[in-house]
Amino acid sequence: MTIDDFRALFRKHLSGHTEPEEIENLCFIALQHVLGMSRVEISLSRKQMLNNLQEKTLSKILDRLVQSEPIQYIIGTTEFYGLEFQVNPATLIPRPETEELVEWIVTSGIGIQNSGLKILDIGTGSGCIAISLAHTIKSSQVSAIDISSEALKTASQNAVSNQVDVTFIEKDILQTEKLDTSYDIIVSNPPYVRDLEKKEMRANVLNNEPEKALFVPDDDPLVFYKKIGNLALEDLKNNGMLFFEINEYLGAETVSLLKNIGFKEVALRQDLFGKDRMIRAIK
Ligand SMILES: C[S@@+](CC[C@H](N)C(=O)[O-])C[C@H]1O[C@@H](n2cnc3c(N)ncnc32)[C@H](O)[C@@H]1O
Repeated sequence: MTIDDFRALFRKHLSGHTEPEEIENLCFIALQHVLGMSRVEISLSRKQMLNNLQEKTLSKILDRLVQSEPIQYIIGTTEFYGLEFQVNPATLIPRPETEELVEWIVTSGIGIQNSGLKILDIGTGSGCIAISLAHTIKSSQVSAIDISSEALKTASQNAVSNQVDVTFIEKDILQTEKLDTSYDIIVSNPPYVRDLEKKEMRANVLNNEPEKALFVPDDDPLVFYKKIGNLALEDLKNNGMLFFEINEYLGAETVSLLKNIGFKEVALRQDLFGKDRMIRAIK
């Protein structure tokens, strides 16, 4: 079987439940992973024959994709902010919107020149936010909290493979009365999907990604924002910044909540798709 034959097989098995551009993208990711070639190399080698092992491995990947398993869990890695991260069912798969949040933090000014900037990431998952910030803001001291010991194991390995130093802490933030020290920046992408939104979600997310990372009760959807907002108001330094990724449907409510708690400047920002997606609040 050639690379082109395999691409046709991919299209045949996935069309119907996956968009054509997405099929093409998944196929490239699978081929890159198995053949160790770049997209350009693959495009230039379309008539290249696959060996038996490559064919078998690619077929297994295709079978799992047909079962709606996310490609990132199948191959075990994903790219975020130019770095490679291990992911598994204990960690949420980092999203492009979250890269925009990291970019906002990095460009928010107090960052780059300020040496020894203290940063805390709450609900770190794979560690994507904490590790990208530690990698980009070289002199920063970054800590990261998660309730899941399994996620923290993966995050620690990601810090090692990306050659950064991050302090990981296992903690339930909803049961935390006070943070251990004061920070210049606190960031969180907490669970924010309401149970009522489950019906809008794709099967590959719903059936594979960790519930604890995603969902909040319909009757208290801002529970994490309230708790983290209050903790941050206590433990951010003066003029320190709190960054949140937010539920696109709850932008106005989340802004009001932070203003009512006592943050002086609260800015709401849209993601690339024009959806209310992130907030910066200054103490
Ligand atoms: C939406 S995910 C974000 C993961 C990662 N920061 C990212 O952006 O891809 C939320 C994370 O919060 C963690 N989490 C859920 N409840 C928590 C709690 N009570 N205390 C601390 N972390 C919690 C989950 O384990 C999960 O890793």
